[in-house]
Amino acid sequence: MHLDRILQSQGFGSRKECRKLVRDGEVKIGGLVVTDPFAEYDTAGFVCEIGDWEWEYAEKVYIALHKPAGYECSHKPKHNESVYHLLPEPLVARDAQSVGRLDVDTTGLLLFSDDGQFIHAISSARRQVTKSYRATTAQPVEAAQIEALLAGVQLHDEPAPVAALEARQVGERQIELVIDHGKYHLVKRMIAAAGNHVDQLHRHAVGALSLEDGSLPELEPEDWCYLRPKHLALLGYTG
Ligand code: URA
Repeated sequence: MHLDRILQSQGFGSRKECRKLVRDGEVKIGGLVVTDPFAEYDTAGFVCEIGDWEWEYAEKVYIALHKPAGYECSHKPKHNESVYHLLPEPLVARDAQSVGRLDVDTTGLLLFSDDGQFIHAISSARRQVTKSYRATTAQPVEAAQIEALLAGVQLHDEPAPVAALEARQVGERQIELVIDHGKYHLVKRMIAAAGNHVDQLHRHAVGALSLEDGSLPELEPEDWCYLRPKHLALLGYTG
């Protein structure tokens, strides 16, 4: 494929802008500046350097971000920064979207992709990709609250009680719970319905991908990484 087309497909701008990037000597391949925007390359294994970036060609991108508190999962945030400001611009330009949303004050694992089929597969309740959370509560946790979360709690606007797949107390004011739904404020609403209140919420895993067990590279808050085929396989996604 022509170099300008490769760069365009990766989110570096219009074809015209990509040609200029190349002609301006901004693109290196194999350590050498390439100035011909029409030079042909095989996209398989294609890597180039642009500024400080070493950029790998990917037909679709899959990303894991350790979301910090204070960021909204929106392109047009109302009162806070956007999570999209934590990703490199070309990934946003090629329309990588968050897979579901976390509240502005929720921290933890948030996935992004420009593969609509992937986004649907991970967020759809039918595929049952689990989401694991650790909630710090305002009041000490009581056994009856854990029992209620496991048995199912009745939420406003839900036709039937909603149950956690797993729930356990892990500290005086901490509950870990696993759910397979992605509804608005679900964990906070479930814990409120069980008789407590969430002060802080952290998502440590999506399916078998965890920030804490080595299944992903170590990610500090604000860090992101590409998901490789082995990570997608852990999510049960084979394309
Ligand atoms: N449940 C919530 O209440 N908030 C989140 O951010 C995610 C799940």
